[in-house]
Amino acid sequence: MPFGFRFPFRRRPRPSTIRTLRTDAAQACAAIHRFGFAHPWSAGEFASLLASPATLASAALDPRTGRLRGFALSRLAADEAEILTVAVDPALRGYGVGRDLMREHLARAALSGVRTIFLEVDPDNRAAVALYRRFGFRDVGRREGYYRRPDGPPTAAIVMRRDLA
Ligand SMILES: CC(C)(COP(=O)(O)OP(=O)(O)OC[C@H]1O[C@@H](n2cnc3c(N)ncnc32)[C@H](O)[C@@H]1OP(=O)(O)O)[C@@H](O)C(=O)NCCC(=O)NCCS
Repeated sequence: MPFGFRFPFRRRPRPSTIRTLRTDAAQACAAIHRFGFAHPWSAGEFASLLASPATLASAALDPRTGRLRGFALSRLAADEAEILTVAVDPALRGYGVGRDLMREHLARAALSGVRTIFLEVDPDNRAAVALYRRFGFRDVGRREGYYRRPDGPPTAAIVMRRDLA
């Protein structure tokens, strides 16, 4: 989606309610995820992740209907975590859903005892890189050949890190 593009809402959507992502949301997660990734995860993959006690899962919901707007999933391991994925409904991108989600997700990770959080991101994914930088993530490495492409050789991921107070 080009920078600055917004779907033609008459007005900005109401702020999201952020909650723990329920285990029965696997289908809704897969429906959003397939709009963000070349290799989207299935509802079954989401169901396994959501069932795991090592997964921290946050949902952004429409405050009136409870409909899923976006989600963030992290894997917890002792006092570290890895963000596995963050995705927002394409019709609602650019309205602060990702920002609200990330703010709460990091706060919830800190409450779970996480002191350091990592992630991998495609350097060409401008929206995601900007979102992570906005939340204080810094580049700490690079993984060559990390992302499979349907139309070419695999490309590198940036590894980012943020310490949580
Ligand atoms: C990345 C993503 C989650 C951002 O969600 P969003 O709800 O659109 O983001 P927000 O509107 O809350 O914007 C938050 C910040 O993200 C960045 N951002 C969002 N869209 C951007 C864009 N098109 N270009 C550049 N930066 C952007 C900005 O830093 C923005 O902060 P600002 O409002 O102070 O400028 C969303 O674009 C998405 O789902 N992308 C597909 C899936 C994906 O790539 N996930 C991340 C990799 S795991």
